[in-house]
Amino acid sequence: MKILLDEKALNDGVQEMARQINETYGNQPLTIVGVLTGSVVLMADLIRKLKMPLRVGVVQTSSYKGTERGTLTINAEMMLDITGQDVLLIDDIFDTGNTLQEVTQRIKDLGPSSLRSAVLLLKTGCQQVDWRPDFIAFDIPDEFVVGYGLDYNDVYRNLPYLAVLEPADIATTDA
Ligand code: IMP
Ligand code: MG
Repeated sequence: MKILLDEKALNDGVQEMARQINETYGNQPLTIVGVLTGSVVLMADLIRKLKMPLRVGVVQTSSYKGTERGTLTINAEMMLDITGQDVLLIDDIFDTGNTLQEVTQRIKDLGPSSLRSAVLLLKTGCQQVDWRPDFIAFDIPDEFVVGYGLDYNDVYRNLPYLAVLEPADIATTDA
């Protein structure tokens, strides 16, 4: 595996994103909605750097099978009540953008007073939607990455760094 972002780089990027979020919301109460499962590591690190009164909820989606994009499913049963709240949606990566687009639409239907989104990564040149998240920690090249929450078939989420998955790693994981 080739390391793309090490622990120090990740921490610096998340710190800078937290600074922007703190600056945007000030002391206004905020509801975070993390997209499971990829955002768990980012959420854990990010929320401890946020200073406003904070509620933390989750929504579950899944789309990838291996490194292939599949059909998106959303399970919002575990989500907090967000009507009339300022909501910040958190995800690991903005790839095609379809996941955040769908989740954004679902959340809008619930009537939040405002809705923004924050992602750790934006995969350059892969977007199929005409908007971008409000907060982006890193732009990365179009390669399949794992670690810091991101998986390949549910493995590698616990790596403390972000790495590019190479063919040899795929062979090992699938064995
Ligand atoms: P999108 O709907 O195409 O933007 O894809 C978003 C979701 O696909 C993310 O929340 C990730 O779970 C997953 N994903 C996209 N690219 C990668 C990757 O390079 N590695 C691991 N998961 C990815
Ligand atoms: Mg995901």
